[in-house]
Amino acid sequence: MIKNIDNQACSIPRHVAIIMDGNGRWAAQNGRPRLAGHRAGVKSARRVVEACAEARVETLTLFAFSSENWQRPAEEVNALMRLFIEVLQREVSVLHDNGIRLRFIGARDNLPTILQKRIEDAENKTAANSRMTLMLAVAFGGRWDITQAIRQIAAKVDAGELKVEGIDEAMVSRHLSLALYDDPDLLIRTGGEKRVSNFLLWNLAYSEIHFTDTLWPVFDSVDLASAFEFFRQRQRRFGQLGNQKEAGAD
Ligand code: IPE
Ligand code: IPE
Ligand code: MG
Repeated sequence: MIKNIDNQACSIPRHVAIIMDGNGRWAAQNGRPRLAGHRAGVKSARRVVEACAEARVETLTLFAFSSENWQRPAEEVNALMRLFIEVLQREVSVLHDNGIRLRFIGARDNLPTILQKRIEDAENKTAANSRMTLMLAVAFGGRWDITQAIRQIAAKVDAGELKVEGIDEAMVSRHLSLALYDDPDLLIRTGGEKRVSNFLLWNLAYSEIHFTDTLWPVFDSVDLASAFEFFRQRQRRFGQLGNQKEAGAD
């Protein structure tokens, strides 16, 4: 009998990651300041969170602010930090009422103290929810993540808790920000660029990648459905031959 060893049988990816790009260009096209683009981006994120929860996605990881985004003009960085604080204030109860667990990944020590506090409160409040996990990547970079994992592992070696020979891929995975979560099945990048921009470098190793020119503020449930359709048509081989996957060979 044919054994389905991955989630191909199910057309909905279990873990979806999104690089939400194009807010600034959307604002420019509409003759508005960049912040208006970011505000429209928040509305889009809210729609996509709902659509993913409806579709029974288990984990949705949204890239909201990268390690490199600190290099933008201070005015934009500050406006974004204020926006994150405002959005958490407004949306956490709604997410909680909808059974969404909120988690954050990134260098949170670099964030304004009040935002760190909001993040902690949001994580605590929603910790027991199980309908979908919404993972927000803020001040996150794939290189930062791998570096912090290396530091944790090296500290254990230093302390004599671990031998160098004991370090394997599973151990590295366990020290990354997504340690408790499966790798993304599907990565979506809006805004037309075809690059990873230092997102989840380790965890995207075998993700299917869907690029769309649609700017993030206008990405909607129809675009999401197209991305899921793209995913449904992929044959995930993980380095094996296609017929091995069909036969369920390990
Ligand atoms: C993505 O939109 C949001 C963040 C990086 C914070 P951009 O701000 O990068 O929008 P574009 O790429 O300039 O259009
Ligand atoms: C990637 O978008 C980061 C986020 C969406 C948060 P960027 O706009 O920062 O990426 P680059 O600079 O075009 O690669
Ligand atoms: Mg951009």
